[in-house]
Amino acid sequence: MTLDAATEARLHKDRTRQDWDAAATGWDKHTPAIRAWLGPATEAMISMAGVAPGLSVLDVAAGAGDQTLDLAARVGPRGRVVASDISANILALAARNAADAGYRNVATHLADAEQLDLDANAFDAAVCRLGLMFLPDPLAGLTQIHRSLKPGGRFCSMVFAGPDQNPCLRILMTTAMRHAGLPPRDPFQPGGLVSLGRPGLIDALFQQAGFSAVATTRMDAPFRMPGTAHYLEFIRDAAGPILHILSPLDAPARAAAWADIAGQLDAFQTADGWAGPNTLLLTVGLK
Ligand SMILES: C[S@@+](CC[C@H](N)C(=O)[O-])C[C@H]1O[C@@H](n2cnc3c(N)ncnc32)[C@H](O)[C@@H]1O
Repeated sequence: MTLDAATEARLHKDRTRQDWDAAATGWDKHTPAIRAWLGPATEAMISMAGVAPGLSVLDVAAGAGDQTLDLAARVGPRGRVVASDISANILALAARNAADAGYRNVATHLADAEQLDLDANAFDAAVCRLGLMFLPDPLAGLTQIHRSLKPGGRFCSMVFAGPDQNPCLRILMTTAMRHAGLPPRDPFQPGGLVSLGRPGLIDALFQQAGFSAVATTRMDAPFRMPGTAHYLEFIRDAAGPILHILSPLDAPARAAAWADIAGQLDAFQTADGWAGPNTLLLTVGLK
């Protein structure tokens, strides 16, 4: 039996929600490591989106809210931030983290980024950190974000560059797929980790969604850890898509997959610790 496109899309969304519901506490637990990894790129993303005191900002695929807190600090008490995500579990952590940090200017909105269900012309700025590439239809998400912005508002997204610039992600994906008995997948297939890393693709999508003055900046953001085992602990706790691929395997088969991955990631061990190359694309557009 073949599924129609609408059923296929709904099942994909259900899986995404379940994967991130399951990985929510793991992603949140590793916030200090994520902050060390993405801190400079996050600062750049927030500045490129023109976030400033008093503005209202939409944070798409906000996760556990690490960048939401930076946005809340930047807009200050007269501004507001709406953190949106498809996973209720991870969004609950964003709400808790904002409350624990004392921010009263953060609200949450549970929604698929492709169907945001927000008012048109409502936000001065928007960001999306490491979320857009998971959308099977990123143009639909970009169109929704464009609609939610006021004229003159800016949106900045952060996604992974292509597989050649992100060898650790390539190792994780190809090795997990092989151990799961799945055929190799086109890394640029929509919804994949590096799917928006195809040269020129993200700029073209921004333009198709209606954004002008579109520009992409490439940023190196190596992931530094004391050793391979520390990086693997992060991946095993928090990387929803990889955990999903390995989930059908029994315990010994899964252990073999992780051992294979660890052996390949050891190539990035240096005298000063483990440093996994990682390249990000920051894309900005104006409504
Ligand atoms: C890698 S995490 C990034 C979280 C956060 N932005 C950060 O950088 O810490 C990816 C996030 O994208 C969310 N996500 C995936 N697909 C989504 C969709 N279709 N709509 C909204 N959020 C989605 C996941 O639930 C998850 O929270």
